[in-house]
Amino acid sequence: MKIGVYPGSFDPVTNGHLDIIERASKLFDKLIVGVGVNNNKKSLFSVEKRLEFIEVSCKSIPNVEVDSFSGLLIEFMREKNANTIVKGLRAISDFEYEFQMALMNRKLNPEIETIFMMTSSKYSYLSSSLIKEVAGFGGCVRGLIPEVVEKELHKKL
Ligand code: PNS
Repeated sequence: MKIGVYPGSFDPVTNGHLDIIERASKLFDKLIVGVGVNNNKKSLFSVEKRLEFIEVSCKSIPNVEVDSFSGLLIEFMREKNANTIVKGLRAISDFEYEFQMALMNRKLNPEIETIFMMTSSKYSYLSSSLIKEVAGFGGCVRGLIPEVVEKELHKKL
């Protein structure tokens, strides 16, 4: 069974993430979306909420599973019996950081491969931070995030 993991903070999940999830789900028997918990990083939404947003948004894709992890991604991969990390690339600016992480993960476990998928051009400028900033100042983010996130975001901000 081919199992891929798409890791990220997903604070919150955007339509750019969902585009990657939908396309990556076709490459694996099972795609696990891994919400990374980093207690040193301040997040807007709790892990439970972040998981719920992804679960609700992906309910029509049967081979997508959602789970959280803390600690090393490579350890989560081992627990899940997965051997491919999926990352989305929006622009060249993403490349340096992603390249560094991919090489470190390969150093930690050479059996695990990282693959990169280009985000659809209509979402290439999107990021969770930008969504929070724009929504925080009252800007319209409709169509850029799932409806369930939009509702909660307005309540929060
Ligand atoms: O959405 P993000 O912030 O780019 O997600 C980053 C994430 C969660 C994928 C990354 O920080 C991660 O893999 N964290 C787990 C800790 C770890 O394994 N660190 C070493 C990676 S080289």
